[in-house]
Amino acid sequence: MIPVTLTTHSRLSSLDFDDIPFGKVFSDHMFYAEYNNGTWQKMEIKPLQKLEIHPSNLAWHYGQSIFEGMKATKHIDGSPMLMRPEMHAQRMNASAERMCMPTFPEEMFVEAVSQLVSIESAWIPPAKGSALYLRPIMFAADEFIGVRPSEKYIYIIMALPVGPYYSTPLRLKAEETYIRAADGGTGEAKTAGNYAGSLYPWQKAKDEGYDQIMWLDAKEKKYIQEAGTMNIFCVINDVVITPKTSGSILKGITRDSILKILSAEGYQVEEREITIDDLIAASNDGSLTEIFGSGTAAVVIHVKEVGYQDTTLTLDPDTFKIAPFVKNYIDSLRDGSMEDKFGWTTKLTQSTAV
Ligand code: COI
Repeated sequence: MIPVTLTTHSRLSSLDFDDIPFGKVFSDHMFYAEYNNGTWQKMEIKPLQKLEIHPSNLAWHYGQSIFEGMKATKHIDGSPMLMRPEMHAQRMNASAERMCMPTFPEEMFVEAVSQLVSIESAWIPPAKGSALYLRPIMFAADEFIGVRPSEKYIYIIMALPVGPYYSTPLRLKAEETYIRAADGGTGEAKTAGNYAGSLYPWQKAKDEGYDQIMWLDAKEKKYIQEAGTMNIFCVINDVVITPKTSGSILKGITRDSILKILSAEGYQVEEREITIDDLIAASNDGSLTEIFGSGTAAVVIHVKEVGYQDTTLTLDPDTFKIAPFVKNYIDSLRDGSMEDKFGWTTKLTQSTAV
């Protein structure tokens, strides 16, 4: 068991479960660990608190900072639940390796998350589609000005009650000028810089009236990669297509769940390259019926428009069938109302609570 110090000033009573802005409300506790002299140490669950950080902290200068996003939900019988936590542990470690940071033992990650969620279970919003969003983050902690991998790191897991990330279907701009990631770059890692680099093009797209960007490949600017901070799917001639991950696309865990659920349910799914021109042609001949994004925060969100050069491709989300089906499937796995034939969900029992 990880040592626990409980807060004496819970903020839970100030939470309005019917009105939770995404990303602004934090639960009472956090998991904390430090890496020094080649080992993880000082592991603790303690009241959420500010950190004292030296201005020379390497993460701030050279960007050694990675994160994850995962969700804890409430089973219809009231127990807290996790879905595929080991996948998040593995992806965090893959990001760590790419960013030259130490890995964190997978079983310790699952234990930390389970214990934190058990302690914070009263913070899990009960509504379907809502969740306790878990945000593991690891960043460099050396006080040093010079470019090299840090020797010390801090690892934190925060928890935030959240409702849906997006509430309405999205308008995407297929981006021709700026890129998110190139082959051989860091696109597959959940590292801070990938998100920092996306902000300027996103801001420009927002100024043009779009909600998010449809990222195209760095070299030819024609292959579809991602949608904003999500993976992307489209349905053409009843085949569900998502770009194959090739090093520059994030290996979404929701993406993987969607592929597995749809395959098991008898849908035809394909991971392959698809160009923006393919999408426009399919829209023109009527074979394109859905586009949707997927991610931990967003789960599944419909796309109603894609702008590319002088073309605007429009879709009617009210006619989508596969996106709402798979969203409901995931939400129902997360609240236990759907049988979990994949063995992805874990109910946390009171024995793990403190
Ligand atoms: C997630 O879907 O959990 C993400 O990491 C996207 C995020 C930047 C909100």
